[in-house]
Amino acid sequence: MRIFVAGATGAVGRWLVPRLVRAGHTVAGLTRTPAKAAVLRELGAAPVVADALDERAVHAAVQAARPDAIVHELTDLKAAGDLRKFDRAFANSNRLRTLGTDHLLAAARDCGVKRMVVQSFCGWPYARSGGHVKSEEDALDPDPPAEMRPTLEAIRYMEQVITTSSAPEGVALRYGAFYGPGTGAFDPATADQIRKRRVPLIGDGGAWWSFVHIDDAAEATALAVERGQGVYNIVDDDPAPVREWLPAIATMLGAKSPIHVPKWLARVAAGEHLVAMMTQSRAGSNAKAKRELGWRPRHPSWRGGFAEIVGNGALAA
Ligand SMILES: NC(=O)c1ccc[n+]([C@@H]2O[C@H](COP(=O)([O-])OP(=O)(O)OC[C@H]3O[C@@H](n4cnc5c(N)ncnc54)[C@H](OP(=O)(O)O)[C@@H]3O)[C@@H](O)[C@H]2O)c1
Repeated sequence: MRIFVAGATGAVGRWLVPRLVRAGHTVAGLTRTPAKAAVLRELGAAPVVADALDERAVHAAVQAARPDAIVHELTDLKAAGDLRKFDRAFANSNRLRTLGTDHLLAAARDCGVKRMVVQSFCGWPYARSGGHVKSEEDALDPDPPAEMRPTLEAIRYMEQVITTSSAPEGVALRYGAFYGPGTGAFDPATADQIRKRRVPLIGDGGAWWSFVHIDDAAEATALAVERGQGVYNIVDDDPAPVREWLPAIATMLGAKSPIHVPKWLARVAAGEHLVAMMTQSRAGSNAKAKRELGWRPRHPSWRGGFAEIVGNGALAA
């Protein structure tokens, strides 16, 4: 197949492109940064330099690449340092989820692309009621904290336009929280914050989270390009509450247990949305991805995955 990967230089893209090339596909990789063209060549992709928010440039790039499939892994987290301002942190990424999706989808339709796979998120977007581990059929949050509303709207929009598309056929991948090489979460800076006990356990730490190693996320994406249909949670086999994973990771890092902060204090200091993410959010089940894509995560649990990374010295102080 000929495959156009938007976001080819990102954390997922850098694992995905070589995986697709190894499987015999011809890959064109989009970046907005001319200096990254060489990286894309090294990964095995033909570099395409364009801004995903420029409709004409996207159309020309897709037309030139003549892909059978498009993968959307775009995000822009430049402003995402302070999650207390969640809305501001994700504003650029939300534009890539709405306008960026529109431009790619329009180009795909015009150029006869057969399948389009887009990234989404498994975790806090699910309704904060009912079971702790959600399937793809379960409802998204009907009443998210105000700071998260624009981001959830962008996610809903992207999933809706993609899953109601028949030409190209659309697939949405709700990834769990990434970890592993090149990801921003649980990088040395975050590990340092955990060691310094600056990542507290809020309330009862009762929110459930799903993780996925970046390598497994890329593998699932490659399988979805080849045979996906509809929405999939792309998460490991081991959803866990914050009160379990945060202390476990602290122990792996040789840190003391996280400090406890009551909800009311966290609400004042960090905002209702961060309290919800640490006390109410839900995780996801990967049963559908295993059944329909034949995906088997190489890192079935974040416990082993994190231990491997800590053991490699990648998060050393
Ligand atoms: N991190 C998580 O835990 C998580 C969980 C669920 C879903 N996701 C989603 O998964 C996807 C992949 O994430 P990632 O960690 O691989 O992202 P990343 O490492 O931040 O990479 C982002 C990519 O988007 C490209 N990009 C950004 N703005 C662009 C623009 N205007 N035009 C063209 N390219 C643009 C970047 O290209 P250049 O920098 O080369 O220009 C880069 O290749 C994202 O959509 C993210 O929202 C992430």
